[in-house]
This record gives sequence, C-alpha cells and structure tokens, in this order.
Amino acid sequence: MAEEPNVEQFKGQPRLPKFAIPKRYDLFLKPDLSSCKFVGGVQITIDVVAATKFLVLNAAELTVKDDSVWFKNQSLSKELRPSEIVPVEEDEILVFKFDEVLPVGEAVFGIGFEGTLNDKMKGFYRSTYEHNGEKKNMAVTQFEPADARRCFPCWDEPAHKATFKITLEVPSELVALSNMPVIEEKVDGPVKTLSFQESPIMSTYLVAVVVGLFDYLEDFTPDGIKVRVYCQVGKSNQGKFALDVAVKTLDLYKKYFAVPYSLPKLDMVAIPDFAAGAMENYGLVTYRESALLYDARHSAAANKQRVAVVVAHELAHQWFGNLVTMEWWTHLWLNEGFATWVSYLAADSLFPEWKIWTQFLDETTMGLRLDALAESHPIEVDINHASEIDEIFDAISYKKGASVIRMLQSYLGADCFQRSLASYIKKFACSNAKTEDLWAVLENESGEPVKMLMDSWTKQKGYPVVSVNVKDGKLEFEQSQFLSSGSSGDGQWIIPVTLCCGSYTAQKKFLLKTKYDKLDMEELVDSSVDTTSLLAKGNQGKGGCLWIKFNVDQTGFYRVKYDDELAERLRYAIEANQLSATDRFGILDDSFSLCMACKQTLSSLFSLMAAYREEYEYTVVSQIITISYKIVSMAYDAIPELLDDIKKFLINLLQFSAEKLGWDPKDGENHLDAMLRGELLTALAEFGHDLTLNEAARRFHAFLDDRNTLLLPPDIRKAAYVAIMQTVNSSNKSGYEYLLKVYREADLSQEKVRVLSALASCPDPAVVRDALNFFLSSEVRNQDVLYGLAGISREGRDTAWIWLKENWDHISKTWGSGFLLTRFISSIVSPFSSNEKAEEVEEFFASRTKPSISRTLKQSMERVRINANWVHGIKNDRSLGDVVKELAYRKY
Ligand code: BES
Ligand code: ZN
Repeated sequence: MAEEPNVEQFKGQPRLPKFAIPKRYDLFLKPDLSSCKFVGGVQITIDVVAATKFLVLNAAELTVKDDSVWFKNQSLSKELRPSEIVPVEEDEILVFKFDEVLPVGEAVFGIGFEGTLNDKMKGFYRSTYEHNGEKKNMAVTQFEPADARRCFPCWDEPAHKATFKITLEVPSELVALSNMPVIEEKVDGPVKTLSFQESPIMSTYLVAVVVGLFDYLEDFTPDGIKVRVYCQVGKSNQGKFALDVAVKTLDLYKKYFAVPYSLPKLDMVAIPDFAAGAMENYGLVTYRESALLYDARHSAAANKQRVAVVVAHELAHQWFGNLVTMEWWTHLWLNEGFATWVSYLAADSLFPEWKIWTQFLDETTMGLRLDALAESHPIEVDINHASEIDEIFDAISYKKGASVIRMLQSYLGADCFQRSLASYIKKFACSNAKTEDLWAVLENESGEPVKMLMDSWTKQKGYPVVSVNVKDGKLEFEQSQFLSSGSSGDGQWIIPVTLCCGSYTAQKKFLLKTKYDKLDMEELVDSSVDTTSLLAKGNQGKGGCLWIKFNVDQTGFYRVKYDDELAERLRYAIEANQLSATDRFGILDDSFSLCMACKQTLSSLFSLMAAYREEYEYTVVSQIITISYKIVSMAYDAIPELLDDIKKFLINLLQFSAEKLGWDPKDGENHLDAMLRGELLTALAEFGHDLTLNEAARRFHAFLDDRNTLLLPPDIRKAAYVAIMQTVNSSNKSGYEYLLKVYREADLSQEKVRVLSALASCPDPAVVRDALNFFLSSEVRNQDVLYGLAGISREGRDTAWIWLKENWDHISKTWGSGFLLTRFISSIVSPFSSNEKAEEVEEFFASRTKPSISRTLKQSMERVRINANWVHGIKNDRSLGDVVKELAYRKY
C-alpha cells in the first residue's frame, strides 16, 4: 500500500506541489499605520487538479487564525476545515492538512491572518516621512522576488498567475493605491473602504499596495491611459519630468511591441524607504525618490538621466515581465536583461543627444567584469531555494543579459529582431515563458540557428577573449575563456565576430564556432588594395587600410587581444581620430582588462592611455576615469614610489577635456558636457590637483552661504564635496561638519546621496571612521548607506574592514536578507589586494555566511586575489618607472 503522505514530503522543495492551483484572489487588507500591524483575509479560487488531503501555500511572518480557514466546493454540503496547519519556517510554507480528500474541481479556500508592517523594505512594510514637521508612516509593498508571502498566504511563484480583486480599509484622509483603479469607495467617518477593479491575470510578485499622504500630477497617453506621478505633499512639480517620460515611453512601447499597455491606468509613486531603485508592479510602479523625482534647481544631469532610464526600464517590464512573465527565476534575465536593453532603446528615442547607446557600454563592461570571475554564474542559473533569488539580481542578469541581447540584435538585424519580439509578446501574453521559448520565436522569424548560438552565452558562465595575430598574410584567431585571474577556463562560444579594416564603410561578419580559425587578408579588402603594404611593418601612414578593429562598435560580449603590430596600428588610429567612440572605448577597456589579468603590462596600458589625451567623448573619458581610479588604488600597494608621478600623468591626461569644459556651464551646452564636467572635476580632486581643490573650496563656501548660488550647480557639487573631504583631517574637521550641515538641510534625496558618496572619501582614516558611524546613525536611511560605502577612500580601507567586523552583527541583522547587505561586503572587501587579506576575510565569514550573501562573498574574495596577482605583476614590470616618468613630464 502506498504510504500515507505527510508534511515531511513538502519540506526542502524548490517549488510548491502542483495538485492545486490558484485562479483568483479576493484579498482584503487593513493596515494600521500607528501600531504598524495589519489584518487581512484572502479567499482564493483554486483548481484542485488531483485529489489531495493537503493544500500547500507560501506564507512567512504571518499569523493565521485556525478558525478562520475554510475550504468550500460546490459539491460539498458544508465547508471543510483543516485538521492541522503546519508552518514550515525555513521553506516559508504553510501546510494545511485535511482529514478528508479534497475533491477535484474548482473550490474556494479562505484564510484570515495578521502581520506586522515591518521596517525591512520587503513584504508589507512601513516607510517614514515628515508632514508639517510630524513624523508619519506609510504602508508599502515590495514583493519581488518572493515576499508577497509576507503579506498574504499565496502561491508565490511567477508561473502561478491569477487575477486579483483587492479591497483596502484605510484612514479616510489617506491616499490608497493598488494595481488597478478604484471602482468603489465607501467612507465611514474616519475610515474608508476602497474596492479596486479586478486585475487581469498576473504573478504574485507584481501585486502592490501603497497607503499614505501624497500629491500627484496627471497626464494621459494618446490612447487615453491615465498616468500619474505621486510624491510627497507639496512636491508634485518634481514629478513632471518622469511623467513626461512615462507618457511618451508607453506610446513608444505600444508601437515597438505592437501590443498596447494592458491596464487602464499607470501610477508611479516615490517611496522614501526603498530597497531597490524601482519596482515594476503592474500598474503601480514604486521608486526610490532619487530615481523618480527631478528638481530643476538641485538635480544633476546624471540624476535626470537616471530618472529617464529607470522609468523606461520599469515601463518595459509592463510588457516584458508583467504581461509575459518568466516561468521561473532561472529565467529572471528575460525580465531584467530585456528591460535594461529596452530602456536604452526608449532613452535613445526620447533623448538622442544623450548618445545613450555609447553609454550602454558601461553596462556591457560591468557585465564583462563580473563574468570574468570564476565565481560568476550562467545567465540561466539554477534556483533551488527562495533565499538564492536575491543575489541573481546582479550584473549577469541585467548587464550581461542586456549585452547578449544587443549582440543578438545586431547579428539578426533590428527589424527582424523587433518583429520577433512583437510576435513573442503576442504569443505568450498573459502567460509564462522560458528562455528557449524566445529563441524559438527568433529562430522562426530569422531562419538563423538562434538557440544553438545563444545557448553558448546563456547556459555557461563566462565569455571568450579572441586573440588575433597576423601571420603569412592571414589573420589567425584563437578563442579561449577570459578570466581576470589570468588562468584560462575551458568554455567555448559561438561568437558573432565583426571587423572593419581601415574604415567603417565595409564590415565583415562571421561566426567563430571553433577554437581556431583563419582569414585570408584578401578577403578583407577589395583587390585594389595592396595587402603587402597593408601588413608591412611600420606602415602607419594616413589613408589606406591600415588598422583592423574587431567587435565593431563593441556590440559583442567578448574581448579582443591584438598582436603587437595590430595593437600599435589601432593606437595610431586613435590618435588620428579615425575610430568611433564605441571602438575607442572598447580598445581601452579590453587593454585594461588584459592588463588586470597580467596578460599585458601596465606600461603598455599607460602608453595606450596617452593616446586618449584629446579624448572628449563623455563615455570614453568617463571610462578613462574609472580605469584611472583602479590603477591608482593598485599603485598604492604595488608601486607607492611611483604614485605621485602616476597621478601627475593622469591629471595631465584629463586636463585637456577639463580645461575645455571649465567650471561653469556654457550657455546651451549639452547634457553630456554637464555629466563629464562633474566626473572630471571629481577625479582631479581625488588625484590631488591643487587648482581644482582650491577652486572647489572657494565655490563650496559660496554655496554654504547660498544654496542657490550659480557658483556650484548640481553637476559639480559632488566634485566640490569630494575636494573638501580631501583637505579634512582629524584635527581640522570643519569641512566634514559643513558637509553634514548640507546633508541635514537638504530636502532632496539626490542631494543627500551626493553628500553621502563624498563623506568617506577623506584620506584620514579617523574621519572615515566617523563617516562610517554616521552611515549607521538614524540620520541615514538604510536604503542609502550603499552610496556612502561606495566612496570609501583608499586610506580608509583597513579602518572600514575593522569597522565592518565590529558592526557585523548589527549590520547583518538590520540589512538582513536583502541584496543591500551584499554591498557592505563588496564595497569594503573587494578593493583589498593581498592573499593574506583574502584569507582573513574568509576566516571571518566562515561562521557568518548565509545563502543570500555567499555568492557575493566568494566573488569579493576572488577579486582580492585577482588584485593581489595584479600587484605582483605590476611590481615585475621593469619598464614601468621610465614610462611613467616620461608620461608624467611629457610636454604637449
Ligand atoms: N524588478 C526590479 C526591482 C527589484 C530588484 C526587485 C531586485 C527585487 C530585487 C526592477 O525592475 C529593477 O530592475 N530596478 C532597477 C533599476 C533599473 C533601471 C536597473 C534597480 O532597482 O536598480
Ligand atoms: Zn527590472
């Protein structure tokens, strides 16, 4: 006889059992904003598909009242009650056991429950704000990835789509929002009951509720969809920019996906305490204030761009994610990679002057950085427990995901790609899809072997470096897995290789499917070009086909290593301004990464960097700055004796564009100039450029007297703050105190973030410690600490590590299980550069790791070891001293 099933069999399973599935939730919630408790009830229409004595649902941190649970089916004369309710805490499930077998067919399952509005920014939580000088709470939900279960018992998996009919009971004076519009409002003195229209079918992680005091701004799309931005009372003017972007973007996506937005309204709300940047809840998108609000006087160009990109990203999810949803978290990248990629498409259409596709390389390069670790993971990653999901909202799912989409799009062509996406959305609307479903549609439309090509990018981690050599009139290729550690992995890819030779007029494309391949030079150029002169050493004159650039416009997710001759020709081409900005970026970034992996010397990287002295393109200069920071940080440990000269060289290098831009905005100057000015001045301040430090101080003091002074516009404020912190020390902390004053008086979240990001940049470790303690104080919202951590100075590193150890228990408890906790580790641990430190870190965390941080921890320690290896390589670079001296004192 088959064994009687029992509760044990449901434990430790990655997914819920499938004998009953939800169809419709009728959900009632009553939050109490002063006691921070809520009560609720849910009636779930379910389909029992196999006779069972059990119902198994997700629930966590909820109290279910035994007598409030019932099961009703038309064929039953009375309601059934469970004989046992067993919570399994570690799996966040509730097992309801019945004495009788539940009949197959439709039924309704009712549960009453209670919970706490927590302060952890997930589930049903409280956020705080001030209104007329009084501290208030609002109630907010954040359910992705798996926290709807903290608000109501449910089948909390993306594939269990159902409709939602939500009712809220709230204080009459408050605004209460949910995914759908209100269809009925009953006011009963101090309380009101709001019934929302029933939603189309959707996943639980997209359900949302917001209750608090808000003002709003409103507009309509050409189709008459009502779009609103809700923000703090009195601040609705700050919502104008996002509202405009949203209205235009909805219209754009409707055309691009060939499917209209599927709900009658879209609300976007600024939430003062918010773990992520924003969340795409169906019809009710929630944001951090800094990612939604734009203040013409105090927001920087970078803040404006962030708002546009975040809005475009979340609205992309209304199709990609909400209408068509990933079948399981393994396919999270379908959501996030696509939304990231599509947001650039929208931003480019709305703001062509931002050259956003050039800026997209920032995404690609961050994907490449993470994926160069042995501790990376494939885009499609196994998920066996809810606690593992948080950590895959990372640069692999978002940035590598978006980059491989871009690679595929450029291989298949924009039109074919768009047609395929439209047909994919149509085919899987109101349902779920897996990665291979998308490939099938693309394969069908294009006739290309999409699945075979893409499996190599999504099912294995890492990516290749293609080494190119010229030999006997042939170009020879070899692919091998690129790892920052310098070892080579055994991955193999199908690589869409592109190349240009001497000009951009003709491009050659082919798929590199094997480890080695060759190409005749004759195939590259038309017969009028003499290929012998093409390859003759030292022939770098103007004209003719002298350089060969692979991965044209950097649309491919791989690196290229050129032989010395080819590399030198590219360097000349950069100096002669013959290459596109994207290619200039790519050559530099590939070279930098090869250098970090000790496949190339730092002196050769420096020589290449010198070719960028007249670089003026925002994204390229910005990358030079990023690389410069990293080099300076390594130089501290590897070659302290050369540090001053290295800084001199870097200051020299940045001087050209810095002088061109100056401190004051020019009339009608463009967005990118404004962003570049801020980054350049910040870098000059960090590298100790005296003129910059003095000028920053002068302007900062004018700003202290008048926050609206034209001497310190928002774009250069961070630079001034960083400059001030460079001159602070423990015996003269006035600059630090001034910054705290600016922080305390700032009303705008973006302003606070700017101060936070500068506070720990001081070279005096004692001041860094003060800043770190300030980050943990009640004056800094938990959501914002990550910005402070990202700005810790090189000199403050050891102090920060000691501080982290001392405060770990508190930090681990407070930032508990979200991805914010991982930032403490990645920011503080990753910059170290010795194997001893890696061991020390390993030892400390040996007894303190948990599933939600284990991946980050391993990645951070790997980074430390990579740095250590690099430091070793730099120390052995014999020609470095001479090269640095020559560059530092070179006269132009
Ligand atoms: N779906 C995410 C929000 C999210 C992130 C939920 C992590 C749960 C865990 C949202 O669409 C998102 O990706 N937001 C980004 C902004 C975007 C512009 C990259 C974010 O929060 O940073
Ligand atoms: Zn997203």
